[in-house]
Amino acid sequence: MSPNPIVAPFPATRLRRLRRTPALRALATETNLTRGNLIWPIFVTEVEGGAGEIPSMPGVERLTLDGARRAAETAMRLGIPAICIFPHSDPDLKTEDCERAWNPENIGNRAIRAIKEVAPDLAVMTDIALDPYNANGHDGLVRNGVIVNDETVEALCRMALAQAEAGADILGPSDMMDGRIGALRQSLESNGYKDVAILSYAAKYASGFYGPFRDAVGASGRLVGDKKTYQINPANREEAIRCVARDLAEGADMVMVKPGMPYLDICRMVRDQFAVPTYAYQVSGEYAMLEGAIRNGWLSRDVVLESLLAFRRAGCDGILTYYAPQVAELLA
Ligand code: PBG
Repeated sequence: MSPNPIVAPFPATRLRRLRRTPALRALATETNLTRGNLIWPIFVTEVEGGAGEIPSMPGVERLTLDGARRAAETAMRLGIPAICIFPHSDPDLKTEDCERAWNPENIGNRAIRAIKEVAPDLAVMTDIALDPYNANGHDGLVRNGVIVNDETVEALCRMALAQAEAGADILGPSDMMDGRIGALRQSLESNGYKDVAILSYAAKYASGFYGPFRDAVGASGRLVGDKKTYQINPANREEAIRCVARDLAEGADMVMVKPGMPYLDICRMVRDQFAVPTYAYQVSGEYAMLEGAIRNGWLSRDVVLESLLAFRRAGCDGILTYYAPQVAELLA
């Protein structure tokens, strides 16, 4: 942005001249949103009777493996470049040691393979964190009431290798442990997965906006305490910069800011400071807010596109959004 925009005094300057018609407005448009900017998060369940709409996310469903295959085909047809898989795993198989996180047959890994079978060209992103398989709902291993860092990172590396083996293109570490990006990058390198990309949830805040997501993956009832010892304090800005700098130095290819709309200042700051592919996650609570108001008739559906354009204006290269298929259809 130019530091001192030259604006001639009225009437030489009439800013409304370029707003007069759709054609003139099109010529004066500064940012755009395309289907290529979208990553579509989906929930895949292995629970008997677990498929169906998520009450706090009306319009979003937990899918069976077959549903995931159909979603992949929809993504291809609509020109959405990537799907991100979130597992809704069998509650009876969650343990304190989270071994299922690196089981090749866990629902996340089965979903990767199912999608790759029907849509090999679609990029598949995963989530790396232990919460779907953890008896106490945390992203890390809990020992004597403490979320332990280094032991968790070892578990995350095992989880990542199983996902890479299943065919994931992009790994999304969302756990916020220290040192995980470097450790993941090194285990990928030394196990022959040199080309697997890492989109680090680098600036991930301890947010109340994840509530509906925890319902969707069945973690809400389980979570003991909160995630404030590993996710960033919403009051902090400088700390997000340190997180991003550290993750890039350790080998992240792309970074994410999460949640999205309440953290647009962070998006802009990260994009300006690092000039690397920067993504925002329009999280479950943002979806619930928008969709709840739209369904009540309090807001028009136009706010969906407006909310996504805001991320582009804030410098984001792309957005993870539950609205991806709907928006891709609109933009097609
Ligand atoms: C956890 C994870 C969360 C989300 C993505 N990965 C929730 C959390 O940190 O508790 C939230 C996404 C959303 O709210 O849409 N590994």
